[in-house]
Amino acid sequence: MTDLRQQLSHTGPECSRIALGMWRLASWQMTPVMRLDFLQQALELGVTTIDHADIYDSEIPFGEALRLAPGLRERFELVTKCGIRLGESSSFYDTSRSHIVNSVENSLRYMGTDHVDLLLIHRPDPLMQADEVAAAFTQLHAQGKVRHFGVSNFTPAQFDLLASRFPLVTNQVELSPMHLDPLHDGTLDQCQQRSISPMIWSALAGGKLFSETTAQGLRLRRTLDELAAHYGVSATTVVYAWLLQHPSKPIVLTGSGRIATVREAVAAASLTLSRAHWFAIWSASTGTSVP
Ligand SMILES: NC(=O)c1ccc[n+]([C@@H]2O[C@H](COP(=O)([O-])OP(=O)(O)OC[C@H]3O[C@@H](n4cnc5c(N)ncnc54)[C@H](OP(=O)(O)O)[C@@H]3O)[C@@H](O)[C@H]2O)c1
Repeated sequence: MTDLRQQLSHTGPECSRIALGMWRLASWQMTPVMRLDFLQQALELGVTTIDHADIYDSEIPFGEALRLAPGLRERFELVTKCGIRLGESSSFYDTSRSHIVNSVENSLRYMGTDHVDLLLIHRPDPLMQADEVAAAFTQLHAQGKVRHFGVSNFTPAQFDLLASRFPLVTNQVELSPMHLDPLHDGTLDQCQQRSISPMIWSALAGGKLFSETTAQGLRLRRTLDELAAHYGVSATTVVYAWLLQHPSKPIVLTGSGRIATVREAVAAASLTLSRAHWFAIWSASTGTSVP
């Protein structure tokens, strides 16, 4: 089995470099027994980190599966997020202390656990009061309900603001061959500078990487297929290797309900692309060669 263990930061939890994203869990049409089987197969591959959010329809069905196998909880690192409130007509951000604490207490109840390993503020909230978020984090940590804290989709300046009040262990951001922004906007530079691993969402662009018929989509598929043939792996494995290879040492989330895809992601931990091939994917994305 490939060793996927990695410390998220100097003080952060140990995670698996490939993590299971649970956003789409409700659409996988699995019974609780099938969900448990999926989780156990992931564990056998070394995938132990599971990503939720309070607004995904995932915590309750995940909890149902976990209750079928008491004892399994301790083999996982559970991540969840809060800070978005879905309204009937419109949604809003809420990073108040009471909302953060209530959200975590609900997550613990839904998943049937007494703690989560990592809590993220889901999106930057223009009304966020850093001291109030730090007070919520301090309370949850003191109560043993959350072990570590981070953010998601934060700019470097937003990250610095909250990190000035409370230690953060990750920034979970979107990155894929179809979405290169964090490579160039300072997000991943900040992670490397602070020695924290980013968590990467929509690594396969939500599946668009395999279906989009734009010029970019066609260029990327041609390049990924060529590299897949060259390395003797699947195009999916090439994408995960491209992401894992970034020097910020990302933890990359899968979003698929098929264990075969998780296996292809795990295989990427044993693959190193040449620099020329890494930049071939970058060029297929941008439609230009490096300046
Ligand atoms: N922090 C945030 O703001 C944020 C935002 C979005 C997501 N996330 C997290 O990131 C995780 C991953 O995001 P994601 O689900 O968008 O990841 P993704 O891996 O980019 O997309 C998964 C989707 O791609 C499809 N797919 C995979 N391989 C395919 C192939 N070869 N051909 C066609 N379709 C394919 C999957 O379908 P199958 O199931 O059929 O394979 C699934 O619908 C989420 O579960 C969530 O935990 C976080």
